[in-house]
Amino acid sequence: MSDDIILEVENLHAWYGRKHVLEGINLTVEAGSIMVVLGTSGCGKSTLLKNIIRLYTPGKGSINLLGNEMTELEEEDVETVLRQVGVMYQNGALLNSLTIGENVALPLEIHTDMSPKLRREIAETKLRQVELLDVYDRYPRELSGGMQKRVAVARAIVMDPDIIFCDEPSAGLDPVTAQGLDRLLISLNETLGMTIVVVTHELESIKRIAHYITYLDNGKVLFTGTIEEAFQADIPQIQEFFLRDNV
Ligand SMILES: Nc1ncnc2c1ncn2[C@@H]1O[C@H](COP(=O)(O)OP(=O)(O)OP(=O)(O)O)[C@@H](O)[C@H]1O
Ligand SMILES: [Mg+2]
Repeated sequence: MSDDIILEVENLHAWYGRKHVLEGINLTVEAGSIMVVLGTSGCGKSTLLKNIIRLYTPGKGSINLLGNEMTELEEEDVETVLRQVGVMYQNGALLNSLTIGENVALPLEIHTDMSPKLRREIAETKLRQVELLDVYDRYPRELSGGMQKRVAVARAIVMDPDIIFCDEPSAGLDPVTAQGLDRLLISLNETLGMTIVVVTHELESIKRIAHYITYLDNGKVLFTGTIEEAFQADIPQIQEFFLRDNV
């Protein structure tokens, strides 16, 4: 695997019981790029992400992440690799009983033996990085949807990961707030060189952020490349996806 490939998925299969959901996925992500995984609802986008970050154990195939063959590692080594990976889940997943600061600092508390003071300093820095000030001691319910998403980004980057995965980051946001969140992702990519894999079906967002796209259809990759190449490829499902009204 070349040095500048940070993630390479090959022939990945996944099942839920007898339902074959991923049927031989190939996905290559270059270090420092923004890859968008797209496709209609139910095609397997979240499942792909969950297999990569090991919420599910891959059924068959290979996942090389940060130079490690994840399917061959012991559980404890999988965890070590995943510490270098940030995740923003589809439903935000902030813990309502914790303050914003505690939510952001949670990965540090779980994975490091840093002092509470240092954890707080780092969490505050990350909150500033996502342009949220003075919310450290507030609770998730006191923040708007857009602010909660930014908190989820701050938590995803709190361990200074090399790569972050975001599942539908702008779902449920108004267009202006969604655009702000996209700008945040772009700035993390440009200023920190962070590799970002985003799952989304929001057309405007895809056009703004994607360096490359991988289009899934029914558990298979129909296309991977740039958006321009996708248009040229003349694949009916993809044309339809890009030409539909953005709902
Ligand atoms: N835990 C589960 N158990 C059984 N089936 C599941 C489970 N999670 C997802 N599925 C099914 O697997 C398929 C792929 O689901 P997945 O969540 O990966 O889709 P998606 O592309 O992320 O969709 P969306 O855009 O709506 O988030 C769907 O048919 C879904 O119903
Ligand atoms: Mg999903």
